[in-house]
Amino acid sequence: MPRSENSQIPTDIPTIRVVAMPTDTNPAGDVFGGWIVSQMDLAAGTTAAFRANGRCATIAINSLVFMEPVVVGDEVSIYTRIIRSGRTSLTIHVETWRRARHTHLTSKVTEGEFIFVALDENRRPRQLPPPQPGDELPEIVPPQQVKHHAAPL
Ligand SMILES: CC(C)(COP(=O)(O)OP(=O)(O)OC[C@H]1O[C@@H](n2cnc3c(N)ncnc32)[C@H](O)[C@@H]1OP(=O)(O)O)[C@@H](O)C(=O)NCCC(=O)NCCS
Repeated sequence: MPRSENSQIPTDIPTIRVVAMPTDTNPAGDVFGGWIVSQMDLAAGTTAAFRANGRCATIAINSLVFMEPVVVGDEVSIYTRIIRSGRTSLTIHVETWRRARHTHLTSKVTEGEFIFVALDENRRPRQLPPPQPGDELPEIVPPQQVKHHAAPL
């Protein structure tokens, strides 16, 4: 497939990256929203566990917007950024980007805010440890958006 002059290869490292498969679709054949949310939760949970240096649980999803469909074969990349640290909780901004399999075109398909609570061994809220050098590592800026005008739906 020809590459658009506007295409951009994402160079930043996502928290997780996965390929959407036929088993991830809804009855209409598009990728199931619940699968995407689960990938977002996994990515945010990875960032939370890293910052909290231990077990965390999702307590809330404060906002979630689906901007574009994801289709089978898309490379799905999830970017996370801690935007608030409380006593026991972390608010994490999460963005999902798709790249159509045979192109360099990328576009943002979801964004949302996930809240995690650090847990102790009794599953009760645990005070976050002080930030350590390197905790900023998961705070990665996603690539610039390159709009799909001819998404392979
Ligand atoms: C996580 C859990 C232990 C928290 O217990 P809790 O008694 O509700 O916790 P607290 O009221 O002490 O609140 C803990 C933190 O969460 C925050 N919080 C609580 N409810 C919230 C909500 N609805 N939205 C956003 N933040 C919330 C509090 O502000 C507090 O943050 P802070 O310490 O940074 O100020 C409990 O709610 C739980 O087990 N929930 C189920 C988790 C789960 O199964 N998730 C899905 C699988 S991971």
